[in-house]
Formats: sequence, structure tokens, C-alpha cells
Amino acid sequence: MTSSISFFLALFCAVLGGCTARDLPTRSGIEAQSNLADSGLNAKITVDVSKTHAVAPNLWGIFFEEIQHAGEGGLYAELVQDRSFSGLAYTQAFLDSDETELVLNSGAFEGSHLRLAPAMQSNALPINAGLHGVAKQLYEHNTFQDGAETSQPVSWRPLGNTRLTLTKQHPLNGGNRIAMRLDAEEGAGGIINTGFWGISVEAGAQYELSLYLRRADNSSNSELTVKVELESSHGSHSYANVTFGDISTDWRRYTATLTARATDSTARLAVKLQRGAVLVDMVSLFPAQNGVEGSISPFRSDILSLLKGLKPRFLRFPGGCYVEGVVMANGFYWKPSVGPLDQRPGHWNGMWQYWSTDGLGLYEYMLLNEELGTEPIWIINNGLSHQESVPTAQIQGMVQDALDSIEFITGDAETQWGRLRAEMGHPEPWSLTYIGIGNEDCGKPFYTTNYLAFFYAIKQRYPDMQLIANCNMGQEAPTEMWDWHWYTDPDSMFNGRYTFDSMSVVKDSYVFASEYAVFDWGISTIPRGNIQGAIAEAAFMTGMERNSEVVQLAAYAPLLANVNHKGALCPTNLVIYDNSRAFGNPSYHVQALFAEHQGLRYAQTQIDSLSARDNGVAASVTCQDNACTRLSIKLVNYAQFTQTIALRIQNSPVPISNLGNITVLTGVDYRSTNSFEDPYNVYPRSGSFKDMSAEIEVELSAFSITVLSTAPGTDDLLALSNA
Ligand SMILES: *[C@@H]1O[C@H](CO)[C@@H](O)[C@H](O)[C@H]1NC(C)=O
Ligand SMILES: *[C@@H]1O[C@H](CO)[C@@H](O)[C@H](O)[C@H]1NC(C)=O
Ligand SMILES: *[C@@H]1O[C@H](CO)[C@@H](O)[C@H](O)[C@H]1NC(C)=O
Repeated sequence: MTSSISFFLALFCAVLGGCTARDLPTRSGIEAQSNLADSGLNAKITVDVSKTHAVAPNLWGIFFEEIQHAGEGGLYAELVQDRSFSGLAYTQAFLDSDETELVLNSGAFEGSHLRLAPAMQSNALPINAGLHGVAKQLYEHNTFQDGAETSQPVSWRPLGNTRLTLTKQHPLNGGNRIAMRLDAEEGAGGIINTGFWGISVEAGAQYELSLYLRRADNSSNSELTVKVELESSHGSHSYANVTFGDISTDWRRYTATLTARATDSTARLAVKLQRGAVLVDMVSLFPAQNGVEGSISPFRSDILSLLKGLKPRFLRFPGGCYVEGVVMANGFYWKPSVGPLDQRPGHWNGMWQYWSTDGLGLYEYMLLNEELGTEPIWIINNGLSHQESVPTAQIQGMVQDALDSIEFITGDAETQWGRLRAEMGHPEPWSLTYIGIGNEDCGKPFYTTNYLAFFYAIKQRYPDMQLIANCNMGQEAPTEMWDWHWYTDPDSMFNGRYTFDSMSVVKDSYVFASEYAVFDWGISTIPRGNIQGAIAEAAFMTGMERNSEVVQLAAYAPLLANVNHKGALCPTNLVIYDNSRAFGNPSYHVQALFAEHQGLRYAQTQIDSLSARDNGVAASVTCQDNACTRLSIKLVNYAQFTQTIALRIQNSPVPISNLGNITVLTGVDYRSTNSFEDPYNVYPRSGSFKDMSAEIEVELSAFSITVLSTAPGTDDLLALSNA
């Protein structure tokens, strides 16, 4: 018997604002339709519930990289940018120089983004030398090609006539070598910080302020008070203030909880003094919000909830190219990223051209895993940057670092590195199963031999650890799992849905599709993508689900983008934000739908059509239970027109209830996307339907994904009487 759910869809489309065929501009996607000979249908989908295989339990996850202000000015909730002045010191060629003082002239604060001092420019190798693939594309499209302007906004500026001097004379501690000296000899002065393109505060909300102060010299006995004020962008309105007196000749930490009197996303933080001189360091302001175990959460809450909405099974971190660095000196190293915040030196994110405080260090990444309930996938630096490689003969220290990182994460509180974790506030060890050895490094000098050095050292001490190579190493080295990355145009992504059908675990080991996305540089919606790209990805994901015995883990990239980031902004990103707003793009909702409907088993799903490209139809069916009594049926239409498909479910172990659920994600045309003004424009709409059966016809809107959920039919009557 064939019933139809188009009645439901008719109602549904009224809600959506129309999902019937439109005069879509001709632009890729499937254009012509070829009906199945006599049925009038474009495609027939047959599901055989007796032919199933397991779905990898951690299949859908996320990949966090410190790119596009993902952490700094993004997920990391710190509101003050460059709190320890090291980013400024770095760009002014002062951080690593032999000088002890640098008086900053007004030129240092000109423009909207920090410029590298001439000494830095002439030393710097071209950043894009040796790049390939997506990183190269990013650099071809970036806006700091002159090599001088960075993607770090100018966040510090003097107030009044204050002389600002970066100094190494009285370092706060061994890790934090730079402080800022303020001299306000001629009346009131100070320094302001404008955060990440403005500090965003909300009326009534509380903020935890902390900073270190000390007198600039011993001789002054005069009264010295420092007032810290949260105020509007030009200082005309004050939102909160606190005054600290009794400033000593030693460094001391001053704290206060500030309650904002108004809402303003362009606020600034001012450190003011009446006259005299003071040293300032580690100026920090966090929203007063609780995180894991009641401590102040390091994560911005709206972005964190969007990440939770993706229901990820794993978290790959912290890169990406961020781990490698352009040169070895600006890669990510975990040891300087742990311990007290004020002792972390931070480092120049050479790849993406802004300062990292390393406030998001290995400990915080593990806290993030705890918050998200994800399986950590820790990517270690394997001694290969974009332009330099550490020879295998000299790799032992880095191998030891990797072993120590595992002890930091998993060792009990009695071990050397486990003790540090306990001191930081987490006595309980975390679990760790996956380690990635480097990023996109196959083919670089020493890759194979460095890989082997890490592989055997880790396996010897932690035999159960799953190690991830950067490619299938074939005969050269053991490969347990390997990274597979792909960025492409929408049509190629759709056509790629059979990519993994020819792979097998025996021949290809396990695959970690750790970066993929539709990248279409031509689209006008950068960095948000559009529904067409998202639907192409959905089709591709049906292929990964079908092959989830080989593809064990998969993550879209990039995850996060601050729209104000200057420079290499990717064409599409899952979560898009500025300093006060955040939303998910169409691809975000595709990812969330697949994760929500990730089942335990995949049921064989066959598509018949008269077109080589399946008429733009892709499908995948998973069972939510091992007995396959509840199905999640994902139906993808990558065509420019609405089409009706026949769905047939064979060999179901139970009768299928005619009461099911339906969720549809689509747009009014291929360009549909979300924005700050309209964050829910492309958004999944769900409802129930009562015409489900083993044989139905389903109308699929242009560029859409439809998820049908079935229940066993035995309790139909009960369900109906409760409805
Ligand atoms: C400041 O005074 C202390 C103790 O009186 C002394 O140890 C220190 O060297 C002095 N520092 C400077 C910069 O004069
Ligand atoms: C400074 O804060 C105090 C209390 O915290 C408040 O009474 C006072 O009005 C504030 N001053 C300004 C200029 O906002
Ligand atoms: C449909 O959705 C409701 C509400 O989320 C849920 O309780 C029910 O189990 C779902 N039914 C099916 C068949 O998935």
C-alpha cells in the first residue's frame, strides 16, 4: 500500500513560507529531471532493515582550531584583548629583542589592526611560502598580503597625555616578561582596552576584573590610586568602576566584581591614574558565569551552547595548521599552555596572524571536552611546521613532551604531570583514546621517521591509544587511522558521496574525515555559506554514514569564525559571531541533524533513478536501536526543484507505526542562509505525521534534507489514544 505524506508537507510548507518549486536561477545543483520510466517518480529508495552494519559510535564530532579568532575573541570568554601586552610587544619587535624598554609612539596605535614593526617585516619569511591546499587558498584571498598588517586589532590605546612604555625591568614572573608602564605626569591619564572589536556588556550582568599593579619606582611616596572603569566607547558614560589605593612597590593582584549599569557592545575598559607612574599587567575581565565544578567558566556561554547543540561525540583540538606553526617557533606547545594564567607566556599564532594568550591551553581544552561530553582527539606537534622540520635525530624531546601530555591528561594525581593537573583544580584524571600525530604533514622532510618515533614511544607506554597519521602510510609505517581533508565546490561535494564506497578497513585502515566543507569562493554570503552547500554536505554525509565501518570519525571545518576577523576568513563556517551575537549557518543545522539522528546501525539504503547523478537524491537510514525497531531516514534533495520519491522499507522486524516525526531543513532558494538579523531563516522545522508506512511517497523540496523518524507499530492504538 502506498500512502503519501504530501498532505502534511502542504501544511508544513505554509509554515516554512513555501517550499514548492521556484524559478531558481540556474546555478549548479541538479538541473534536469528524468523520471523513472512509467511511475512519474524521480527516484526510488529501498531500505533493507535485515542488512545492517554498525555505525561508528563517535562518528559525528567537531574540530576546534584557533583560527579566525575561534578562541581569542570567540569561545574563550576573556573580554580584554592582549591582557599581558605580549601581542603588542611581539608586533613591535620588542618581545624577543635585547632592549629592556620601548616607549610607544602614537604610530603604534594608528589604524585598526596592529602592524608589524619594520624589523619584524624584514625578518619574516613570506607566510604563504610552502602552503598548499586550503591554507594556500586562504592566503590568496586574505587582506594582509602586504605582510605588515596583522589580523590582531589595535586594542590598547593611551588615555590623555599618558606615555606608554613596554618594559622588561620588573617582570611579573618568569613566564610573563613584559609589563606596561603608564606615566601620567601632566594630569589624569591611563590606558584603555577595546577588547575584541569592542567589549560587550549587559545591564545588570557581573564581570570579574583582575589586574596586577605596582609602583613604577621606589622613590615616590606620593599617594597613588588607580581607578578601573568600564565605560562607553568614548568614555562619556561610565557603566561600573572601582578604585584601588595603597599601590605597593611589589606586584600585587587587585580584583573586583563589576556590575554593568547599561548594555553596550562597544564598551571599553579604562585603567586610570590621577598623576604619577604605575606598572600594569594581566588586565583581565571575564563574565561572572560558572563552569565545570563551579569555577568561573573560561567559555563564552552563547558559543558554548551552540557547540552543545551540535551534539558532538568528539572534539579534535587545537588545530590544524595552528599546531604546526609557520616556523617551529610559533607552533602550539602544551607545556607553556598550562599552569597559572599569569605565568603563561602566550605565543604568536603565526599561521593566522594574531596573539594567543594560551588562556585556552591543554587544561581548558580538556574542560571543554568535559562540558561537551566529547571524546578528546588531541593533535600533537610532531616537529614539522610549514617551513621547518625537526630532524628525527633531534625529536626525542618532543616525543617526551607528547608522553608527558598523556600523563597530564590521564595520569593520577601522584604522577609528575598528573599532579600539575590536580593543582590546577582537576584531581580526577580524564580519559584519552585518540592522539593525532601532526597535521597535513605527509611529504614533508622527516614526516615518516618522526611519525614512527612518536608512534612507537606512545604505543610502548600506552598500548591502547589510537594513533592518527596524516595520510595512509601504506607499506611505510603502521596506520591505525588517518586524516582525510576535503574542501570543494557544492557539485563536487555532492558527487563525492560515493568516495568511501571503494575503501575498506583492510586496505585503507580507519579514516578520520577530520576536515571537510563546501568552499565556494564565489558566493556572496562569506562566511556563512548557503543552503545549497549545506545540502551538498548532507549528501556527502550519507556516504560517510553508509561507510562508517571505514570512516570512524568525521568533522566539518572550520567550526568558528568571528566576522570581524581580518584576513583569511573561510567562505563557510558553522558558528558565526561578533562580540555579542552568534548563530549557526545552514551547514550547522545539517551537522546537528546528523548527530541527533546518528543511530547504532546503518540499514542498507538503495537509490534507483534513471540519472547517473541519482536525480540529486541521496539517502541514508540508521537504526536508533540494535534491533532496528526505530529508524532515522535521511532524505536529501540536491536538485533545484521539488521532487517526489518513493520510499520502501523492507524486512522491518516490527510493523511500522503510522505515527512518525518529520524534520525538514530547506530555504527559499539556493542562496538562503542565516545572518545576525535573521539567525533562524534556515532552521529545521519539526512536526509529527500520521501517514508513515513501509511504502510511501515523499515530496522533497528543492535543496532540502528531510529526516523521518519511525516507531514500532505495536502501540499504534495506545499512541493514538494518547494523542
Ligand atoms: C626598591 O627597593 C627595594 C627595597 O627597598 C630594593 O630591594 C630594590 O632594589 C629597589 N628597586 C629599585 C628599582 O630601586
Ligand atoms: C563608581 O562606582 C560607585 C559604586 O561602585 C558609584 O557609586 C559611582 O557613582 C561610580 N562613579 C561613576 C563615575 O560612575
Ligand atoms: C517524536 O517526537 C516526540 C517529541 O520529541 C518524541 O517523544 C517521540 O518519541 C518521537 N517519535 C518518533 C517516532 O521518533
